[in-house]
Amino acid sequence: VTSSFNILVLHGPNLNLLGLREPEIYGSTTLAEIDTMLARVAGSLECQVSCFQSNHEGALLDAIHGARGDCQGILINAGAYTHTSLALRDGLVGVGLPVVEVHLSNLYKREVFRHHSHIAPIALGQISGFGAESYRLGLQALIHHLRETSAGSAGMAG
Ligand code: DQA
Repeated sequence: VTSSFNILVLHGPNLNLLGLREPEIYGSTTLAEIDTMLARVAGSLECQVSCFQSNHEGALLDAIHGARGDCQGILINAGAYTHTSLALRDGLVGVGLPVVEVHLSNLYKREVFRHHSHIAPIALGQISGFGAESYRLGLQALIHHLRETSAGSAGMAG
């Protein structure tokens, strides 16, 4: 029996502009295309994704709180809040779900202010620099982790 997991996918500020915004850095793939790809990847692994984008820190935080009970893991690209938000970090710790952090661009090739992430120290890991592929790799890593850690237990229904 393969466990089925529900993953909350969170996209932070400005990611609604993907495809239009600095395509030389972020690529030409739109957010809708990324969400469609993630749903397909999750489906092929007998899992589901719930995708949410907001430009508002509080709305992202509410979505994190809402994941309690409904989701088994969180895949997050917090955009610029990565570098600024203690509230998102505390919320992620607060709900106690495993987190994978992703970025389209390679943060460490860019400005120094992007080199620090408040989320990285509380995440399972970070994937940065592969464009839309970062999300796919992050989702696969998160589901792999959930499978490993639920092995031997009954797993989730579904
Ligand atoms: C980003 C990197 C952040 O520094 C930036 O603020 C973003 C996008 C990325 O996916 O590469 O909005 O998270």
